[in-house]
Amino acid sequence: MSVLNLKAISKSYQDGEEERTILDKLDLQVSAGEFVAILGPSGSGKSTLLSIAGALLSADSGEIYLDGEKVGSQKEWTKLRREKIGFIFQNHQLLPFLTIAEQLDMIGKFSKRFSKTEVKQRQEALLAELGIADCAKKYPKQLSGGQKQRAAIARAFLNQPSLILADEPTASLDASRGRQVAELIRQEVKERQTAVVMVTHDERILDVVDTVYRLENAKLVKVNN
Ligand SMILES: Nc1ncnc2c1ncn2[C@@H]1O[C@H](COP(=O)(O)OP(=O)(O)O)[C@@H](O)[C@H]1O
Ligand SMILES: [Mg+2]
Repeated sequence: MSVLNLKAISKSYQDGEEERTILDKLDLQVSAGEFVAILGPSGSGKSTLLSIAGALLSADSGEIYLDGEKVGSQKEWTKLRREKIGFIFQNHQLLPFLTIAEQLDMIGKFSKRFSKTEVKQRQEALLAELGIADCAKKYPKQLSGGQKQRAAIARAFLNQPSLILADEPTASLDASRGRQVAELIRQEVKERQTAVVMVTHDERILDVVDTVYRLENAKLVKVNN
């Protein structure tokens, strides 16, 4: 069974007089433990696709299944996102006024999935795995770009989501830090059997992922990898 199953997803935007089709009856399946990359030039619809997959934006038509369950009305979206999905963005989006440990505590509290003790244990394990145990008591501004992105990865994995959606997570980093971040995402994916969809421009990190697609003319085309 796929963790994420997109069936015939379509999305158009009005562009002046014209309607522009961004996604055209697009299908995508991602399994547990599978690291998928989606390539495509700027403006091709990658972020739109991730937003639809992450229940942040509604499609014009098509169906989304998460863990085999159909994603229903918008009323259920917040709960679904909290319990099943982790997001990693290009700019870490950490809160400036909380330490790394405090932001992870907060995510843990929202989910109600783990006890306080479990949240603390998961938090420590993740920070250690990601090589930033010494950053727990620091504020984002005290961390390097790579460390901030690692903290964002820890946050995304904390609640043990079924699906991680990453929108150009390496774009703000230099080549070697970008690669490290992709490798750390892979490590967590395999360790925790999470499904990941990562949108990227960076063709140099594609050997780190399992499956590569290109978003072209509003459709996904599988790339031999
Ligand atoms: N809310 C919106 N209203 C109108 N057009 C939009 C909106 N969001 C995105 N678009 C257009 O859809 C296209 C795809 O955008 P996006 O998904 O952000 O692409 P990418 O992430 O691949 O750069 C772009 O041409 C963008 O201008
Ligand atoms: Mg984008």
